[in-house]
Amino acid sequence: MRCLTIFLYFTFIISASAQFLSASQDLELTAAAGTFKFPFFTVDTPVWQYNGQIPGPTIRARQGTTFTVNFNNRLDEPSTIHWHGLRIDNAMDGVPGVTQEAVQPGDSFVYNLDLKEAGTYWYHPHFNNSEQLERGLKGVLIVEEQDAQPWSQELVLLLDDWLLQKNGEIYPQFNTPRDLMHDGRWGNVPTVNGKVKPEFIVNPGERVRIRLINGANARVFQPQLGDDITAEVIAVDGRPVSEVFPLGIFYLSPGNRIDLDVTVPEDGGGKIFTLQDGFSRNKYQLATIRVADKPSVSTPDFAPPVADNFIPAKLFNEVPVTKTWDLNAFRGGELGIGWGINQKLWPDADKLDIKLGQPQKIVFQNSSGRLHPMHIHGVFFRVLERNGKPAIEPFTRDTVLVGPKETVVIGLVPEHKGIWVTHCHILEHAEAGMMTSIGVDN
Ligand code: C2O
Ligand code: CU
Ligand code: CU
Repeated sequence: MRCLTIFLYFTFIISASAQFLSASQDLELTAAAGTFKFPFFTVDTPVWQYNGQIPGPTIRARQGTTFTVNFNNRLDEPSTIHWHGLRIDNAMDGVPGVTQEAVQPGDSFVYNLDLKEAGTYWYHPHFNNSEQLERGLKGVLIVEEQDAQPWSQELVLLLDDWLLQKNGEIYPQFNTPRDLMHDGRWGNVPTVNGKVKPEFIVNPGERVRIRLINGANARVFQPQLGDDITAEVIAVDGRPVSEVFPLGIFYLSPGNRIDLDVTVPEDGGGKIFTLQDGFSRNKYQLATIRVADKPSVSTPDFAPPVADNFIPAKLFNEVPVTKTWDLNAFRGGELGIGWGINQKLWPDADKLDIKLGQPQKIVFQNSSGRLHPMHIHGVFFRVLERNGKPAIEPFTRDTVLVGPKETVVIGLVPEHKGIWVTHCHILEHAEAGMMTSIGVDN
């Protein structure tokens, strides 16, 4: 049996601070095999990691700067780095066979990143993804606003989900028929920054920015903080929303990020707030936020950044649908089960070619009974309709969860030339062919 009891009964008090790398100079990121200590095993778990860390280092850089990452591949197989959500030069997008050659074992590749837009992003390989990410290769990239708002602290929570065996090892079969027939590889150990149920400490009256990133292969989260603490969504997939809204029900599917503006109650001293997941039938705890038993600090009053270049939905009123992409599985492909887009498996895909600056309407039509968080590289889009009804989403995204039998219409305006892949961010589905591309040219 590969399904183990979920290890949710262990709480560990740890310091919230991950290791930060500041991108004021050039960085080295080295992918290599190593080990990682999960709290409930006496043995070390063999993992693959960047710079010897799980998760990889959190990179912080300033909007408007350029920096260089020298990527060294010390794995036994090819790899690349993709900067999920960043709109950068197509040649830096990290997709092997599309924007660059895969980086062979022992080789290096230099990524030049020109950071025009602030926000919460993350980085991960784009080769043998279902295995490379599951083994630990991922990290957060934060591009700070030029005029930073005075949040008293910031918490960065990279959510993940591991499928571990009783001996502490990562379950070594990938892209199994079971993964492929279902919603990909769901694990038995959800983690936050590689920890199980970590505790974060805040002060009464504080205003905290929380960045949540879903780096799991397949698990969807629906983060909840409860009614006793104010949590507002201020950014989705890195970009500021056009109107702040309460957290409510937000499906944080693999690839998605949200930034929350959280105000700790002034009389909250000594209380514990739970960050839990509400997507699974049985709710479970992801982390806790403990309010220090101290006098209240005064809550700073400021407005979070707002979207300055938000695309109005009415821009798409007269735009015809350029492409309908039907999402479904069939027998075939290298893995025996293919996840097709219009019945085609990557790289033999039904691609779309569009012109720079021209508004496009694309339909994701899920004919299957499974989840497909569809992600597009290098562009942000708006959800216009779900199942024929207008969607009210005051934000853009780079990944949208398309539910079983659901049809989602999106609108986008391509602003960057190049070939941008689009794929399901359930990595097992993508490995089984669910990928195509959008070519943008003059
Ligand atoms: Cu995080 Cu191609 O994706
Ligand atoms: Cu991406
Ligand atoms: Cu999928």
